Amino acid sequence: MNAKEISPVVKRGKFITFEGIDGAGKSTHIAGVAELVRSHGLSVVSTREPGGTPLGEKLRELLLHEAMHLETEALLMFAARREHLVQVIEPALARGEWVVCDRFSDATYAYQGGGRGLDKRKFAELEQWVHGHLQPDLTFLFDLAPAVAGERIAAQGRELDRFEQEQADFHDRVRQAYLERAASAPERIHVINAGQTLVDIKKQVEETVINYCL
Ligand code: TMP
Repeated sequence: MNAKEISPVVKRGKFITFEGIDGAGKSTHIAGVAELVRSHGLSVVSTREPGGTPLGEKLRELLLHEAMHLETEALLMFAARREHLVQVIEPALARGEWVVCDRFSDATYAYQGGGRGLDKRKFAELEQWVHGHLQPDLTFLFDLAPAVAGERIAAQGRELDRFEQEQADFHDRVRQAYLERAASAPERIHVINAGQTLVDIKKQVEETVINYCL
């Protein structure tokens, strides 16, 4: 192989995830982070879970709207995640692109573990199988009282999915499980008080991305 044929070493991209109860307001800030990273001349893949691939989006439709056994729900979340990882996330990171993802495995711990009450030890095994070698570089947890989040969703006046239709105690348990998860991985998971103004949240999120990843 001559010098021309030696490909340059590609610096692996960063993987940033966004979490929080429904209505916590993460979407605006996901777009903001993608914009910030692009402004540094880097490529970004913006994606979501469940979803992010053609198969994953079909599974999302089922997960959000079809009644199913609680364990089926948890397994389908991980099945969609495996497809997402293999088809989208891993290849993008390997190409040097950044991946910003609306939810990842922390959501399964919070919703299926905290909300549905399933045994979190099972998720640790599935997590190991599906993405044992890969964790997000940085995770933002948008924390908000479920009553406030519920008001925000109601103000949107749209049809609610299976998770949004759950009672307040479900969302309380999801929030609690998220906070416990954040306490167990404080270097990775940054808790954002989602009750602040958009401007303050944007500033805090962007400063964190710059400090930790750029
Ligand atoms: P989204 O509306 O924020 O895109 O998320 C879709 C719903 O899926 C949301 O209510 C949370 C739920 N969910 C789980 O219950 N477990 C998971 O592992 C993931 C990724 C999402």
